[in-house]
Amino acid sequence: MAATMKSPISAADLTSIPDFIEKFKGVKSLVDSGITNIPDFYVRPKDERPGELDSTASVDQIPVFDLAALHGEGRGALVKAIGEACEEWGIFQVINHGVRSNVMKSMMGVSKGFFHLPMDEKMLYYSNVPSQPVRYGTSFNPLHESVLEWRDVLKHMVITSPPEENIQYWPDKPPAYREATKNYILEMMVVRTKILSAISEALGLDSNYLQGVFEQQMLGLNHYPECPNPDLALGISSHSDASGITILLQDGQVAALQALHQNRWVCVQPLPDSLVVIVGDQLQILSNGKYKSAEHRAIVNREKERVSIVTLFLASNDTLLAPIAKLLDKSHRPKYQDIKCEKYMQKYLNKQHNKKSTLDSIKLDK
Ligand code: OGA
Ligand code: NI
Repeated sequence: MAATMKSPISAADLTSIPDFIEKFKGVKSLVDSGITNIPDFYVRPKDERPGELDSTASVDQIPVFDLAALHGEGRGALVKAIGEACEEWGIFQVINHGVRSNVMKSMMGVSKGFFHLPMDEKMLYYSNVPSQPVRYGTSFNPLHESVLEWRDVLKHMVITSPPEENIQYWPDKPPAYREATKNYILEMMVVRTKILSAISEALGLDSNYLQGVFEQQMLGLNHYPECPNPDLALGISSHSDASGITILLQDGQVAALQALHQNRWVCVQPLPDSLVVIVGDQLQILSNGKYKSAEHRAIVNREKERVSIVTLFLASNDTLLAPIAKLLDKSHRPKYQDIKCEKYMQKYLNKQHNKKSTLDSIKLDK
């Protein structure tokens, strides 16, 4: 094992975000330096802090669906229930989704393994620009943020299908990284079909309609190291995803993902072998606001690190994002300005996470 990176710089000496980024690169090396308090630029304004959790109230659990029912007589009822969850919550968990448990486990394993590599290995992929094809970095957009997110990331911005065309750009450490990631991506494509066909049907569209739109895939690995002040910081601050849908795999040991529902933060309890499905802004636009992208965030933990893996399915760059004509009748005028997907992504990536601000910026009749 490589020695833990020890820095002669104390966290208290860090004066600014650029200074921190330059010296530490991310959260993991800051934690490894032995800090006991987080630097000021991780401290959230009071109204954004985690606060009291009320995750036990039974009325406040996000819906859970057993996807095995998609293959039998129960399909109609399940499709309807998924549609309702997209309207009411924009987030739900799925079980029996068909992704093999060992594929999820390996993906989790190589992800953790990557973040624990010595810094010089990770630096091969380092960048602070969110649109790089493969990017190791920290927070969401560190040079445009006033408060940083307590997480390091590895992002694959473009995954062509088949992934073989791109695999040469992926990390090759830990040694199983490429194989595990490829297997995981392929299984995600299969779940995508199941979920998007159900959502298409729930909207009264052809079963394969949304699949034809949300055909691009991105992959994001999030690492949330232990945090000495979990009550002051956030792992990822409140945001909705820019995707059509996002499929999230989380570490079963640590509950940290929260969704905003009726103005309260609801904790998503990880179920064994489950996946979380999150409605993103692009589906909200296409459904003309019928389905809501979920505002969500992740808290951090004093004792335990956490890893999550997000797969985003979204439209291709030149797709014009606009409400689907069939879903508009006389009384339903478009609620959003038409916008090219590429432009939407630029807007989204050029600022800090801030609730649903990108979507709000293209709303008509504000
Ligand atoms: C994301 C995200 C939440 C989590 O990466 O967009 O919302 O639980 N992650 O890691
Ligand atoms: Ni998200």
